[in-house]
Amino acid sequence: MAQVTISLITIPIFETINEKVWPSEKLIQQHFNLSLMNWKGKNKESLLGGGEKRIAQQHAKGKLTARERVMLLLDEDSFEELGKFVMHRSKDFGLDKEHYLGDGVVTGYGTIQGRLVYVFSQDFTVFGGSLSETHAEKIVKIMELAMKNGAPVIGLNDSGGARIQEGVVSLGGYADIFYRNVMASGVVPQISAVMGPCAGGAVYSPAMTDFIFMVENTSFMFVTGPNVVKTVTHENVTAEELGGASTHSMKSGVTHFACANEAQCINEIKQLFSYIPQNCEEVAPALSYAPGNESRPALNEIIPSNPNQPYDIRDVIHGVVDDQSFFEVHKNFAENIVVGFARLAGRSIGIVGNQPASMAGVLDIDASVKAARFVRFCDCFNIPLLVFEDVPGFLPGTDQEWNAIITNGAKLLFAFSEATVPRVTVITRKAYGGAYDVMNSKHIGADLNYAWPTAEIAVMGAKGAAEIIFKKEISEDANPEAKLNEKVDEYTRKFANPFRAAHRGYIDEVIYPDQTREKLIRAFKMLENKAAKLPKKKHGNIPL
Ligand code: HXC
Repeated sequence: MAQVTISLITIPIFETINEKVWPSEKLIQQHFNLSLMNWKGKNKESLLGGGEKRIAQQHAKGKLTARERVMLLLDEDSFEELGKFVMHRSKDFGLDKEHYLGDGVVTGYGTIQGRLVYVFSQDFTVFGGSLSETHAEKIVKIMELAMKNGAPVIGLNDSGGARIQEGVVSLGGYADIFYRNVMASGVVPQISAVMGPCAGGAVYSPAMTDFIFMVENTSFMFVTGPNVVKTVTHENVTAEELGGASTHSMKSGVTHFACANEAQCINEIKQLFSYIPQNCEEVAPALSYAPGNESRPALNEIIPSNPNQPYDIRDVIHGVVDDQSFFEVHKNFAENIVVGFARLAGRSIGIVGNQPASMAGVLDIDASVKAARFVRFCDCFNIPLLVFEDVPGFLPGTDQEWNAIITNGAKLLFAFSEATVPRVTVITRKAYGGAYDVMNSKHIGADLNYAWPTAEIAVMGAKGAAEIIFKKEISEDANPEAKLNEKVDEYTRKFANPFRAAHRGYIDEVIYPDQTREKLIRAFKMLENKAAKLPKKKHGNIPL
């Protein structure tokens, strides 16, 4: 069988069909009035999408075809295709003479690591993967099956948007999909990979799914492309600058993952899949785990003696969770907060951690929105939340205020408050001001709060506090600098420690860093059967 090498992977091209699955010729003639050759021919035709020339063009761009992607994603021999012979019904602009079986999207179901998943994969070789009425119907069918049967949907997107020749029926098709995206949200996980140009309506369905993956250099997402931008705003911008993987992973935050190539993209989808459950009524699959010595002395060495010196919160995360299990989400966006999945004693958890190594871990608009969305995903799908807190507060300034840090910061506060999954916080160092409340404090429903001895739980840093409350005393002193230092020391002794909060029960226990893993394993085990409910309501009104 011929092979093709794309993005460092070699896979067979679809040029043969599996003989063993065909029914007998007699049966086919009896029921369908077709000869076996005709039947086989149609199958082969459907496998070729827009034809060999366009497949070669797709490969020349460093892209796989829709079917090759599905093959790579699913367990071997597990794909069951649905709607292989669907054709569009359009007659305008010569479309009555141009038909491709399947109409530009491969749809069906299969398994990943033995777990059921529904898939659609747009075929750029057929009318640029553009969305027709029938193309949309096929995707809707898959989404409805996924909802009824409680399994995730993975969409591999590669589309020029609405099929221009079809007009409003194509727009209607998009809206049908958008509606199902919303209905499925929180019922089954929805994952999108953008693996080619996705323009116009093609971007809004991914935007309403839970996670978006993009591929560097070959995928773009924009509502209107560079030409329209130039006409309307007179800006000169390339497709990559406007809507490439780097732009959306770093600047806009639209995509959660930017992958070097398609093979990496599909591998990362599978990795993500391993941490999440099939639907909102189930829990994520757990790996087997043999209890052992859970003490992690290396954690004692992470917090610098100077409280203003940065450290990488990922060192804390890696030190606490199961080896090599941290899978970071949204890595390149709002780096002052780190979110991702991990396993603790084999069980899936969601982690949110302030990142002192970036902007001192301050909460700003992007960090709040990033973390809020992650918290809500975990809560939708029964994934317990672990928070590592080291936060000097919300970022001050006109930029933040004018762009609504109030509304956006409130999203994170709202998301944590609303979450009913098991929730545990470990305060590693600073827990200042409103950010103390927001970062999964017990006051907003966290189940347990631990603090390391280095924790400082206060309204603000000691220096800022001393300057405000002892302003007069300091300014009137013969040696204001010495007075300020004295007052900073006094404030530090009183408040810059975890004990005030622990005396009140806001902190359940002050623990040594090396004990953290063991404490957390026990805590999440204790919380395993947590049953918390929100008051009866239609839905809350998160400040969007
Ligand atoms: C029908 C389309 C198409 C479309 C591409 N093709 N987009 N056919 N409807 N929307 C066809 C081309 O005619 C071509 O056919 C083949 O697909 C490949 O396209 P190329 O342009 O040759 O490929 P490439 O150079 O890689 O450029 C890809 C592209 C570009 C960037 C996607 O084709 C493009 O800009 N397309 C139009 C994008 C767009 O404006 N879409 C409508 C958005 S409005 P042949 O026969 O030559 O192979 C929209 C509204 C929905 O989506 C709103 C809902 C909220």
